[in-house]
Amino acid sequence: MILEATNITKHFGGLKAVNGVDLRIVPASIHSIIGPNGAGKTTLFNLITGAITPAAGTVMFDGVDITGWSPERLAKIGLARTFQRTSVFRNLSVLENIALAIRSREGLSRSIWQSVRSEEAIAAEAMEILGRVRLRGYENSKAGALAHGYQRALDIAIGLALKPKLILMDEPLAGMSRGDRETVAALITSLRSALGVTIVVVEHDVSMVMRLSDRITVMQHGQVIADAPPAEIRDNEAVRKAYLHGSFAT
Ligand SMILES: Nc1ncnc2c1ncn2[C@@H]1O[C@H](COP(=O)(O)OP(=O)(O)O)[C@@H](O)[C@H]1O
Ligand SMILES: [Mg+2]
Repeated sequence: MILEATNITKHFGGLKAVNGVDLRIVPASIHSIIGPNGAGKTTLFNLITGAITPAAGTVMFDGVDITGWSPERLAKIGLARTFQRTSVFRNLSVLENIALAIRSREGLSRSIWQSVRSEEAIAAEAMEILGRVRLRGYENSKAGALAHGYQRALDIAIGLALKPKLILMDEPLAGMSRGDRETVAALITSLRSALGVTIVVVEHDVSMVMRLSDRITVMQHGQVIADAPPAEIRDNEAVRKAYLHGSFAT
């Protein structure tokens, strides 16, 4: 397992936002986390990625106990995330956004005898990343002027600039048109095959999740109610019950 969370728990007052969650992620897999609004998915991401500290439980990443580590320290050992709301700097160009992320990675790992790389070298790496997320040609556009789908691709590019082994994406397809969702989903699949990066996704579009994922964890009321490959999740009675209004029709 590249990530193994055991008994992760966080309560907000009387609310059991995440309550004894276990999560096991196979290396180089696409693993989705689904569940109704308020199920605790984002909180679980926050607990794994160091935004908040669990009250109980442990998180192992690549054999290291990372429980309670800061996001900066996690980025250094290859664990990155994207956010539910886009985190791009809207007034900077696409290229500048990636260059900033690369510099922040180098700032994390640089030792005193390494010199800072040239602007040209950083721009070249940024262009390579932009190629991977199919944003070449947009490098000089202002990030804030990009269409929504392209902004999500830029979010993913910023995550990739940290050279992660594992990247957690919180609703990368949210608010996008059908066509854009297909594009970003294809992008996620291609990143896994091209880079071998492990991808953990929170996503609402269940039919997309079914096609995209190797394995799916379903949360409800802060707990895991199912954890299985897509075909088994589709047939799971508890999961069907958790989704009202027929939104689980695939
Ligand atoms: N910082 C916080 N303080 C208090 N309650 C919170 C906080 N963050 C999340 N919650 C609550 O925890 C529950 C789980 O939220 P969240 O993890 O965002 O769910 P999801 O991402 O599955 O929609 C919700 O009831 C939410 O209102
Ligand atoms: Mg959420």
